[in-house]
This record gives sequence, structure tokens and C-alpha cells, in this order.
Amino acid sequence: MTPSASGSRVAGKLGLTDRTFAGPRSRRLQSAVKAGLAEVDSALERELRVADQVADAASRYLYDAGGKRVRPMLALITAQLGDGANESVIQGATALEMTHLGTLYHDDVMDAADKRRGIPSAHAVWGNSVAILTGDLLFSRASQIMARQGDRAIRLQADTFERLVLGQMHETVGPADGEDRVAFYLKVLADKTGSLIAAAAQSGIIFSNGPAEYEEPLVTFGEKVGVAFQLLDDVIDLSDDPDETGKVPGTDLRAGVPTMPYLVLGQREDAASVALRARIDDGVERISEGADPAILDAELAELREHEATKATLDLAHAWSNEAVEALAPLPDGAVREALTRFAQAVADRSS
Ligand code: IPE
Ligand code: IPE
Ligand code: MG
Ligand code: MG
Repeated sequence: MTPSASGSRVAGKLGLTDRTFAGPRSRRLQSAVKAGLAEVDSALERELRVADQVADAASRYLYDAGGKRVRPMLALITAQLGDGANESVIQGATALEMTHLGTLYHDDVMDAADKRRGIPSAHAVWGNSVAILTGDLLFSRASQIMARQGDRAIRLQADTFERLVLGQMHETVGPADGEDRVAFYLKVLADKTGSLIAAAAQSGIIFSNGPAEYEEPLVTFGEKVGVAFQLLDDVIDLSDDPDETGKVPGTDLRAGVPTMPYLVLGQREDAASVALRARIDDGVERISEGADPAILDAELAELREHEATKATLDLAHAWSNEAVEALAPLPDGAVREALTRFAQAVADRSS
């Protein structure tokens, strides 16, 4: 196996992409998407340039480190239901990926995550202020790109971003007393992750002048597949293979960020589960007071093997199946086949 971050990046990317386009009708679609992704990457590269030296280095830092480009890929797939990857589709996909990129800078500050895409996170290199400002810069640039595409584009950007931010806000603030924690968290996932993935799927229709009746099914598809995607992200947080994930194992758990395996564990009433939950809570508190994060290594391994993690994977499959059901109004063909396979691959991903 390849030990380098770039090796794992390629493997992760190929995993999802290969499976998305594995169907018998996918060959032409795959080459169209590949060509579109190359255009999105050139546009990102161009649009990320900043005259200021520090801002320039910080802005291209995470872009240079890779990423799966899931959101542009979805936009480019659904654009095939309209005129295909015209300039507006490419610009829209670029803006949405840049928005995603900006959220990563902020998210790593909020989650105190030391690694992203296999390299030290931006705040670990420049400090919190530069990381936050870089995220802001990327949001400004994304808005500028969307503004060039007109009113519909800027509304899509603003509405999506508001929802994403509120998802992050609700995750941070947590549920009200007595509120169902799992239901609350599923809503957080739909907002913080599903919103942008849904916008990407929808944008392919909007910008390619595709049939408007496909927008709603694709928004539902994107939201549901986004929830499945994020549930797997929670399981990946427990992975003991940082080469594959590009992240520090257990970052969220150790920082006390509630994830679905932890929340499901909290629903279990057997003595072993209750004790494991208490040990995790105790460890999180001690880490917040300065203890070595490694004190939770054993609990991390135990939760990874716990039935609560298996239940999270089952839940991800259920959301992925619902995403596929939402595609029913789409015509039978390469696009629907690729989206179906994408949803299935998301619920099995390991990076
Ligand atoms: C990570 O998204 C943040 C989430 C919303 C789960 P990705 O898993 O798409 O991250 P990259 O772009 O491939 O690094
Ligand atoms: C990231 O969620 C969601 C957004 C950036 C909007 P997480 O915090 O769960 O994702 P990772 O694990 O850091 O990629
Ligand atoms: Mg995070
Ligand atoms: Mg987070």
C-alpha cells in the first residue's frame, strides 16, 4: 500500500469514481465528466490566485493537497440531462467546490483537527486567524464566480451556504433539552453536508438548461446521499488507518464532537455500552483540560468494533437506498445508473 498522502488520495478518489462509472452504459458519461473535472480544476487553480503572498499560499494550500471532487462530479453528471458541461456548468461546479474548500478551513478550526487531506490543517500551519480569513476569502471568491452566472446562481449559492452554516451552528450548539439526539443530528447532517451535495446535483440541471422537473428529485437525492456520505465520515473518524483517511484517527471523538456511532452508543442500555460511553466522556473532558489525546485510544478501538458502529453503517445504507429511490422520475439511462452507483459507493467508502 502507498504510505504517502497523495497515494491515499488517489486511491480514495478512484474508489468512488470507479464505482460510479462501472456500469455498462457509463463510458461516454465518464469521459465527459473527466474532461469537465479537468476544466473545473483549471478554473479552481486560476480563481484561487490572490495578489497577497500569504493569502495566496494559504488559499491554494488545501486545493493543492487533493480532495475527491465529489460535488463537481455530481454537477457534471447531472448536466448530461441538459446541454452537458457548458461554461456555466463548469463555473457553477467550481464555485461549489470552492465553497466546500472554504468550509474545510473553518471546520478544522472548529473541530481542532490537526490534519486534512493528509497534511497539517491550515490552522496548524498559519494559526486560527489566517485559516478563518482564508475560508472567508474562498467564500467571497465563490460568490464572485456565481455572481457572474446571474441571479439564479447567486441565490443558489446564498441559500445553500446559509443552510450549511446553520447545520454547523446546530451541531456546535447541540439539541435542546429532551430533543431526540439522533433525529437532531440527522437534520444537522442534511444541513451541513447534504445541502451542498444537493446544490451540486441541482446545479448541473440549472446551468445546463436541463428539464426543471428533475431539480426536485435531484435535490432530494443529493440531501439523502449527503447524509449517507456524512454518516460514513463519522465511521471513518474511527478508522485506525490515517494513510487511507488523510485525517488523525478519532479527531471528532477526542474533541467531543458528537458523531453517530457515539450517539447510537448513548441509546444502548447494557452495562458495557454505558461504561464505554462514560469512559469516552471522561476522556473528552480530560483532553479538553490538556491531557494527551492518546488516552482515548482504547475506547476508540472499542467503539470501532461496537454494534453502534455497525448500526451507523446500516443507517448509511438506508439513506443511500432512499437516495436511489428519489431518482425514480429520472429517465432510465447512463446518468441515473451513475448516480445510483455513486449512492451505493458512498455507503461503503473508506476514505
Ligand atoms: C469532507 O468532505 C467534509 C464533509 C462534508 C464530510 P469530502 O470527503 O468530500 O472531502 P474532500 O474534498 O474529498 O477532501
Ligand atoms: C464537515 O463535517 C462538514 C462541513 C465542512 C460543512 P465534519 O467535521 O464531520 O467533516 P470532517 O471529518 O472534518 O471532514
Ligand atoms: Mg471536521
Ligand atoms: Mg465538523
